[in-house]
Amino acid sequence: MAMLYALVVLGSVMLAEFTGASTNASAVARQILDKIPGDNDVNISYSQDQYIFHVKRTDGLTVLCMADESAGRRIPFAFLEDIHQRFVRTYGRAVRNVMIELERGDRLSLQKANSPFQKHGLL
Ligand SMILES: *[C@@H]1O[C@H](CO)[C@@H](O)[C@H](O)[C@H]1NC(C)=O
Ligand SMILES: *[C@@H]1O[C@H](CO)[C@@H](O)[C@H](O)[C@H]1NC(C)=O
Repeated sequence: MAMLYALVVLGSVMLAEFTGASTNASAVARQILDKIPGDNDVNISYSQDQYIFHVKRTDGLTVLCMADESAGRRIPFAFLEDIHQRFVRTYGRAVRNVMIELERGDRLSLQKANSPFQKHGLL
C-alpha cells in the first residue's frame, strides 16, 4: 500500500510527521485535525481528491495517514493501530508523562531506529 503521508499528534502537539510526496497533505491534515476537536476516541476517514485521510485517536494520541482510495479502509487502520502501539511502547504506557514533558517544553526526540515508520519502509 502506498502510504503517502502520516502524522502523529499527542493532544495538540505534533510528535512525528512523514511526507512521502510533494503534496499539500500536511495542510489538509491540519484542517482535518481541526475538524475533530476534543479528545474522544475516533476512527474517521475523509476523502480529498483521489486520497483518503484516515484518522485514529486513542487515549489522546492521534495518528493520521493519507492513502490512495484503492487501499480501502482496513489496511490503513491496521497501519494506524500499529503506529499507535509503537508510540505507546516507545514512550511508555504513561502517555501522561509524555504530556507533562511536553508541557515543560521538552522536545521528544524521535530516534530514527525507533521510528514507527521505518518498518513500513517510510524512512
Ligand atoms: C490541496 O490540493 C488540492 C488539489 O490538489 C486542493 O483541492 C485542496 O484545496 C488543497 N488543500 C489545501 C488545504 O491546500
Ligand atoms: C476504533 O477502532 C478500534 C478497532 O480498530 C475499536 O477497538 C475502537 O472501539 C474504535 N473506536 C471508536 C471510537 O469507534
